[in-house]
Amino acid sequence: MARFTLPPNSRIAANGKTHPAPPGAKRTKTFRIYRWSPESGENPRFDTFEIDLDDCGPMVLDALIKIKGEVDPTLTFRRSCREGICGSCAMNIDGTNTLACTKAIEDIRGTVTITPLPHLEVIKDLVPDLRHFYAQYASIRPWLQTVTPAPHMKERLQSPEDRAKLDGLYECILCACCSTSCPSYWWNSDRFLGPAILLQAYRWLADSRDEMTGERLDQLEDPFRLYRCHTIMNCATVCPKGLNPAKAIAEIKKMMLERA
Ligand code: SF4
Ligand code: F3S
Ligand code: FES
Repeated sequence: MARFTLPPNSRIAANGKTHPAPPGAKRTKTFRIYRWSPESGENPRFDTFEIDLDDCGPMVLDALIKIKGEVDPTLTFRRSCREGICGSCAMNIDGTNTLACTKAIEDIRGTVTITPLPHLEVIKDLVPDLRHFYAQYASIRPWLQTVTPAPHMKERLQSPEDRAKLDGLYECILCACCSTSCPSYWWNSDRFLGPAILLQAYRWLADSRDEMTGERLDQLEDPFRLYRCHTIMNCATVCPKGLNPAKAIAEIKKMMLERA
């Protein structure tokens, strides 16, 4: 697989295809899209598609779906919900990691350049390989862990105040926009968990019903897993859900200090 790291122009094949707008289109927008297929044996290239905005939905994902449906069915990307809740359409649009389904075309000036999330292996076109990311997610045991038996015929209750501590955490859709914008994660993703997974780790540390706080902190107490965050803050800037993984990471570090 090719690792997508904003390849230098010398590695981009010069033979990208151009698909002009249909005749009569009055309001056109140019999309420049990263293409790479493992079967081709060729270098990555950028293909150019001119789209008639008067015949296209308002979001970048609408344009991608239109291109796939009407111009080039081989264009490969992920999407599901089309409303910013599944996280599958995360990609780099105009230099920023974000969700294609919530990114309005009209907010982008000039040509729209679309590449896969950076610093991940590419499976094809705009589809990155997220297996390592999900393995890291599984490693933090992202479920409620308890030792006391569940109350008979009742849920494990939580006060409104304790429930409020999960706000800003539970909304994470695991899109990976933050982790793939973090330089520490780019260089150390083999051992650093990255902002998305650490925010998820804190989501369980902050849950008053969870009874494995000590074990969870033990698992994070490591020079790489947690402490490779150097407060660069890209994660908080790009999160399309407006979350702040850096703050969650700071809270974990505080918990580490408080138990020392
Ligand atoms: Fe995506 Fe935000 Fe969750 Fe990071 S914190 S994975 S950017 S939703
Ligand atoms: Fe990276 Fe965010 Fe820390 S960008 S270094 S995880 S503050
Ligand atoms: Fe689900 Fe974009 S398609 S978040």
